[in-house]
Amino acid sequence: MSQKIAPSILAADFARLGAEVEAVRAGCDQLHVDVMDGHFVPNLSLGPAVVESLRRVTDLHLDVHLMIDNPAEFITPFANAGADNITVHVELGDPRPMFEEMRRLKVGVGLVLNPETPLDAVIPYLDEIDVLLFMSVNPGFGGQAFIPEVLEKVARARAIVDERGLDLELEIDGGITAENAFIAAQAGADILVAGSAVFRAPDSLAAAHAIRAAAWPT
Ligand code: DX5
Ligand code: ZN
Repeated sequence: MSQKIAPSILAADFARLGAEVEAVRAGCDQLHVDVMDGHFVPNLSLGPAVVESLRRVTDLHLDVHLMIDNPAEFITPFANAGADNITVHVELGDPRPMFEEMRRLKVGVGLVLNPETPLDAVIPYLDEIDVLLFMSVNPGFGGQAFIPEVLEKVARARAIVDERGLDLELEIDGGITAENAFIAAQAGADILVAGSAVFRAPDSLAAAHAIRAAAWPT
């Protein structure tokens, strides 16, 4: 199992994005980039240009979470902009053509499911993906309360991954704090995404360290 912290830049100050990323660099393993289109979710965020700018200022793994109605049209633009992995929602239908494109473009393949979506929806794809992302809030906004019922799905996925020896990371996204990081890690999450708990803290680096220490005490 890996143990990774992925701050979500959605909660950062976009006018100071480079500095915000630099400040948290030593405490994180990836950056989580939330892309919203105002249709799939009722909010707008950012596009490939921001990923391109981030790519110029950091070597961190860029984990791009597409919350958009037409993700197939944006695999290539985000890959070209410098995404390291792209994650698409299973609720939108057959993701396989997008997986093929991601493989061709040499970006990691991610699949994500909403809190209400049963684990069964992603089971057919487990052999084909690099990361499975569990939403622990309804996507659209940062700063929402963690939905603990999602952990049961994470634990079931963990058991399947371990039993089959799959090379697949489990990631959880939404409402993660130092208070619930431990139960998320215990359920089997490898990657913890945290937006508000990192970038809205007075000291983002200390906040990232605190989440890691709470999740995986040494
Ligand atoms: C929600 C996004 C999350 C969000 C996490 O739609 O996918 O990545 O930014 O933010 P917090 O940690 O504040 O819930
Ligand atoms: Zn996200």
